[in-house]
Amino acid sequence: MHVAIRRLTPVIAVVVLPIALLQAVDKKFHNAPDSARAQKNPFEGQASAVEAGKRLYARNCLSCHGKTGQGKGNVPSLLNEKVEAATAGEVFWFITRGSKANGMPAWGFLPATQRWQIVSYVKSLGSSSNAAPAAATPAPTAEPNVTTAAIKAPPPPAPFTDFRYEKPGTTRKITVKDLPQPYFTKSAQNGGDEVARRANVWPIAPAGFKVELYASDLKNPRWLRTAPNGDIFLAESEAGRIRVFHGMTSDGKPEATQVFASDLKRPYGIAFYPPGTDPQWVYVGNENELVRFPYRNGDMKATGSVQHVADLPTGGHWTRAVEFSVDGKRMFVAVGSESNVDDPEENPGEKERARILTCNPEACELQVYAYGIRNPGGGIAVNPQTGELWCSVNERDALGDDLVPDYITHVQENGFYGWPWWYIGGHQDPRQKGKHPELKEKAIVPDVLLQPHNASLELTFYQGKQFPAEYYGDIFAAEHGSWNKAVRTGYEVIRVPLHQTGHATGEYQDFLTGFVLPDGKVWGRPVGTTVAPDGSLLVSDDASNSIWRVSYTGK
Ligand code: HEC
Repeated sequence: MHVAIRRLTPVIAVVVLPIALLQAVDKKFHNAPDSARAQKNPFEGQASAVEAGKRLYARNCLSCHGKTGQGKGNVPSLLNEKVEAATAGEVFWFITRGSKANGMPAWGFLPATQRWQIVSYVKSLGSSSNAAPAAATPAPTAEPNVTTAAIKAPPPPAPFTDFRYEKPGTTRKITVKDLPQPYFTKSAQNGGDEVARRANVWPIAPAGFKVELYASDLKNPRWLRTAPNGDIFLAESEAGRIRVFHGMTSDGKPEATQVFASDLKRPYGIAFYPPGTDPQWVYVGNENELVRFPYRNGDMKATGSVQHVADLPTGGHWTRAVEFSVDGKRMFVAVGSESNVDDPEENPGEKERARILTCNPEACELQVYAYGIRNPGGGIAVNPQTGELWCSVNERDALGDDLVPDYITHVQENGFYGWPWWYIGGHQDPRQKGKHPELKEKAIVPDVLLQPHNASLELTFYQGKQFPAEYYGDIFAAEHGSWNKAVRTGYEVIRVPLHQTGHATGEYQDFLTGFVLPDGKVWGRPVGTTVAPDGSLLVSDDASNSIWRVSYTGK
């Protein structure tokens, strides 16, 4: 997932709180209240209750905790000291409540009798001989949770990869049959660890391309958009402002820069309207609302006051990508989920989110264009060649290193992309087990599966004249980088080759890499991509607070 995990709201911060941390601070079993601790199992000491519990366990718990309670991947063993030390009342309390954010469902819907029988069985596990040795568990592929030590981890199983193996020009393809089972590995907490860029460290592009610093000392540079007249618009989201760059010097730097608008609430998406060479408005997706400013070619500062276009839900995934259809009749705005994987029927904060919305730009009443898309807020773009809307999506976390792939795809109108019940077609999310079977067949498999946890953000279609002809029409997308993978992945710009067809084959390529140092520390995180009038590619980076310019020299 994510769009800057560092800046998620407290709601999300709770969801991603490290499991280890929770356990470390919790002297009681999962912070169970004293009243729970004191509760007695009405079936205490009854063998028949253990037998009944065993059958209920097989039906409800075995799929995750294993036949003998040995656990697997992200799912803990039930044979551990903690469970043994817990009172029956504490285990009953925990099972009833679950730990949804960490993947343990709540079982409160089972009758209390059955829950106590399950407790009888679980408590019998540690002491009884029916507990097999844990050796039967398949070994996870990498040790989680340790940043620098993790660098010694073995290479991930192909086609999955991590920053150590990213190399400009390398083609990758992930298919549905490559997906592991949920919880095949543990879920890592491996974000942050940002360091300042040293002057001799540069992003790395394929042979024949040159990388230069276009702008630096920005404040949280995020979305980029080239205006019809060639000016470059940038959202400095946390600073609440939109900045414009004008012209280009002979050494590839802007001739002038100015703040176009300020005092906005985390602005992100920027788009000019109507499409064509003579726009009248610039639309901006703020965290809480869509707004627009009057705009004429060449304006470096807003000349009129801001107009409200539509309200948007605030908080959670907060980036609001904005785009217009080729004919200008439709506006699109992407609104990601509030949480990792909450069911909208249980968490009212998820209502009307995880969608791409659409409206008439002149009289905007937002309607659903496509849904079940966890977080498309980092990037949507219309393919100028086909007119199709595409999106770049952050999928869900906490199912292990190699699930769930982020993706880039063209978007089908009224299409359902699975979240939160299904993923990558009809794969059931174990945290939403049994829900909405009728949607299984509807869940669309996206066009291009990316490395899980890449945090794919802005995408742009290359229509410049500078890069070699085979790049024309291809997608460039910024991969902000993982926090939920033992060894980092993402932290690069990728190319999705469309082979002049306007459609994807499922492949993508590493294009601009080198934002992570060999020891795993991060100095750069790509967010925005746009093509400058001279055909060079601009990439914003909110770790080094700069914009990179990639141009083709052929040398
Ligand atoms: C979808 C997978 C899944 C299913 C099904 C499941 N669990 Fe869990 N369970 C988990 C995960 C993941 C955790 C770790 C949660 C945490 O640490 O907050 C967990 C934690 C637990 C714990 C606490 C263990 C500890 O050491 O902290 C107990 C006890 C437990 N589960 C019992 C059960 C029982 C009994 C059932 C069946 C009624 C069940 N679980 C079904 C995934 C599952």
